[in-house]
Amino acid sequence: MKELKIITNIQVLDYNELVEEDKILVDKAKAMTEKSYAPYSKFNVGAAVLLSNGKIVGGSNQENAAFPSGTCAERTAVYYAHSKYTDAKFHKLAIAAFQDGKFTPYPISPCGACRQAILEYEKLNGSPIKIYLYGSEKVYVVDGIGKLLPLQFDSF
Ligand code: THU
Repeated sequence: MKELKIITNIQVLDYNELVEEDKILVDKAKAMTEKSYAPYSKFNVGAAVLLSNGKIVGGSNQENAAFPSGTCAERTAVYYAHSKYTDAKFHKLAIAAFQDGKFTPYPISPCGACRQAILEYEKLNGSPIKIYLYGSEKVYVVDGIGKLLPLQFDSF
């Protein structure tokens, strides 16, 4: 029997170790938590995408009384970004979550549906989208959403 081993390298950093460009992106994701509409979960998530044209586009989770109709922050951000700047590539994506009056100490990670949605733009890019998962104690940096979605589904 053969075995496949899948290894994901995650950089673990303090916010202060980020370069200025990355701090700005993470700050935008943090700010976007204030635009979240999450009356049901009370879990406010923000996301921000840095595009090849230098623009940063944000998104937040938007909930609905009919629960499945809501959308995560990451999908709001990537769909909005590609709707607005269709020709731009996605360089980086940051995510932050705010709950009970503070940012989560450790990062939250995108749900499966968001990973698949982000992957679509990574494929379109032809290059990895660097992912920044913010926590007030630690920031995780992953070199591409493909790393968070091993054995991914791709079109035939
Ligand atoms: N949520 C996001 O927006 N992004 C994630 O990565 C995980 C979860 C949202 C969905 C829902 O509005 C709330 O957080 C609680 O699950």
